[in-house]
Amino acid sequence: MRVLSFGSLNIDNVYSVPHFIVRGETLAARSLNVFSGGKGLNQSVALSKAGLKVFHAGAVGEDDGQFLIDELESAGVNTDYIKRLKGTKTGHTIIQNNEDGDNCIILFGGANQEISKSQIDETLKNFSAGDALVIQNEISGLEYLAKSAKNNGMIIAFNPSPMEDKIIPVFKYADYLLLNEVEAGQFLNEKISCDEPEKIAEKLRSSLPGAKIILTLGTKGAIYSDSEITFHQDAVKVNAVDTTAAGDTFTGFFLSGIFEGRTPQWSMNFATNASAIAVTRHGAAPSIPSRDEVLEKLN
Ligand code: RIB
Repeated sequence: MRVLSFGSLNIDNVYSVPHFIVRGETLAARSLNVFSGGKGLNQSVALSKAGLKVFHAGAVGEDDGQFLIDELESAGVNTDYIKRLKGTKTGHTIIQNNEDGDNCIILFGGANQEISKSQIDETLKNFSAGDALVIQNEISGLEYLAKSAKNNGMIIAFNPSPMEDKIIPVFKYADYLLLNEVEAGQFLNEKISCDEPEKIAEKLRSSLPGAKIILTLGTKGAIYSDSEITFHQDAVKVNAVDTTAAGDTFTGFFLSGIFEGRTPQWSMNFATNASAIAVTRHGAAPSIPSRDEVLEKLN
């Protein structure tokens, strides 16, 4: 099986701040670091570091996106399907990282929002039934991409983040749906109580009977649910310094476990330990651990 990760590449400008800025305030940041990021790039790095053969498709501007491609290549990801677009800026973010390790993100899509149907068609013709497509919601053309990949017989893993109503038509194509409780509430169109996450997973499964559901709950762990089994995975306690890309690390390591034929239980534990390591480090892609580091933590 080959894994095509079709998603965003962002330059993350990370400002360490004593607290999140409020209306009318001017706040001095304690530091500024520029990291490679983007949910697509982060998930490609995680999938590859976890041990899979990964192809990343997406787009950067001509100006300043090369270091993002270099980051993917140094993690072992194939970058042949990334386009460099003239007259377009590379996607970027402004991230506030507070003292608790939490973040707030302003996202500018740039080249990520210039994905065309012809780029999707050209890329997908290199993949076939049984290959996997991993997607999030930071690129344009998502519904067309998911529908075309499904028609190709590909397995689709969908992380609907950031969530917005226009991507609801994409959910029906998901074989694996990885989301948090806020995103689940938006999809189900109801306010959700986090006290009974198993019920949320059940509701998602009855709306999307073909999908395996992975519901992430932050420090409360995660739920896995398919037609045969539903179980809770505990979180691993650590001192978090930066939670950016924790979810992307979880997604990449979980899917790599599943795609290499491990059980859902093993894959959830693998993913939980990988993201527990990621939050103890600064940055998005640079915080993602190697497979060996995670296996050592498991042992
Ligand atoms: O999930 C974390 C990512 O979200 C960051 O790397 C940032 O680029 C935003 O896309």
